[in-house]
Amino acid sequence: MNRMTITESAELLSRSSSSLRLEKFIEQRMDAPCILMQQEDSLDDIALQLEDLTGVVVDQSHLGRVKTLSSDSAVVSSLNEHHSLIAANVGNAHSAGGILLTVRSGSVDLLASLMDSAIESYRLSEENQACREAIEESAMQLAQSFEEQNWLRGFARNATKFTTGSGANEMANGVLQPLGYLLRAEDVFLIVDAEETARSGLCSAKFGDSDFSIQTVESVLHQFELHHESAPLVRNNVQLPTDQGAINSIVAVPVNGGAKSLGFLVGINRSTESLEGLPVYDPEFGSGDVGLLEEAAVLLSTQAHNIHLLVQSNQMFLGSLHAMSGAIDARDPYTQGHSERVARLGFELAQLMKLSEPACQEIYLAGILHDIGKIGIPDAVLLKNGPLTNDEFRTIQKHPEIGYRIIERLGHLQFALPGVLHHHERWDGKGYPHGLDGESIPLMARVLAVADAFDAMTSSRPYRDAMPLSKAVSIISGGAAEQWDAEVVACFQHWIADCQPEQAESQSGAKAFIPQGSPVEQVLQAAMALGL
Ligand SMILES: [Fe+2]
Repeated sequence: MNRMTITESAELLSRSSSSLRLEKFIEQRMDAPCILMQQEDSLDDIALQLEDLTGVVVDQSHLGRVKTLSSDSAVVSSLNEHHSLIAANVGNAHSAGGILLTVRSGSVDLLASLMDSAIESYRLSEENQACREAIEESAMQLAQSFEEQNWLRGFARNATKFTTGSGANEMANGVLQPLGYLLRAEDVFLIVDAEETARSGLCSAKFGDSDFSIQTVESVLHQFELHHESAPLVRNNVQLPTDQGAINSIVAVPVNGGAKSLGFLVGINRSTESLEGLPVYDPEFGSGDVGLLEEAAVLLSTQAHNIHLLVQSNQMFLGSLHAMSGAIDARDPYTQGHSERVARLGFELAQLMKLSEPACQEIYLAGILHDIGKIGIPDAVLLKNGPLTNDEFRTIQKHPEIGYRIIERLGHLQFALPGVLHHHERWDGKGYPHGLDGESIPLMARVLAVADAFDAMTSSRPYRDAMPLSKAVSIISGGAAEQWDAEVVACFQHWIADCQPEQAESQSGAKAFIPQGSPVEQVLQAAMALGL
């Protein structure tokens, strides 16, 4: 048998890369060619191999001793005057086992201890290598755990920002994006049940760049018969063909909100290569990935539920405000709808002034409440059919402060106080109750003052008809920087120009074109459409 045949034989015996490393290692330390033989190799093969390496003829009697070698210590036999045969059982040194043989010169004792020392050195270096690899893997796992924890913390932190209906879709997009990286998945999907999409507007989404479509992933989940009560799904090495390529592995967990199913979180195709510098230590999806998805699912469903509750709470709150403004307007049929119109026009003006959306909504809500103090004005004064006496006028003028005292007790309506208290102040300081002037009047009140005046002028009163629209616009324009904030008046002029006043004039005055309905309700409805 030649050398090639021996090598082939060794490969058949599954010689590991570890044993090849051992050969090389011992060769370097023994300063002599070296071979690692399996116990099954024939003595003739070994003799030929040694002859090839050293050019000496090895007596079969020496090889017989080698074959019966059982201890961990090396044995050394003198082959001739110049060469010794050194053999060691290396079964304990690495998994492949076998007899390590070499031939070189030197004293028997020296060579024996040299061989023992080399084997021990190799064993230690292998252990060292194994420890290093274990530490590296632990470090990688630790790094991944750290990233996962960071992400979950970020998820929890960011999710609380989505407290209105800008909602669940935005939240899902914002916080689920990094899942693909953390799962080492080619793509990640949020698959939402059709019923849930119809109910809340939350939509299915994909967060990676793969060619796989949401429909494809849905059909794969269907193939695995996954439903909301299912255990998490983990499949590796599945080779599922699809129109967009093969799905080799998949991990999926149900996302449930209470007893209700929202859908599934799905990762597909575990990457076998490092992603963005973080190596993959496990080429398959496993329990760690399921845990991560389950934690994400719990956070997602919990926050979605919170959004739902908050939207419901806001709707109830808004309903209460409308009931209060309805109670004010109901006392005087001539001013019916006045609070709503002032609120709505105030909102339109605030938007034209490019105030923030929350500021616009606060002005709207303050407009709803601006005259709530009229609840405390006697009917004889409030509903008087004719001009007011000075005393009666002073009584009426108390309504901003009465309204202030009502609202200040309602903690969550504090934002409306400036509008309620100061909507009758004038830019020139001649208003009431405090005679504030210019920018010392809160902006909310300056906006509502224009809206209030315009609706009052264009509404009928018991003692006068509604003023023609063009006259009301003219009065407000003329009062810029005198009675009203010129900037608000400028926005009012833009608004009235956009509203086609000619058309409105020919109908029933300002009521015809001040938008109907609550913008805040619209916001809440939008929230419901997007949220859960
Ligand atoms: Fe008022």
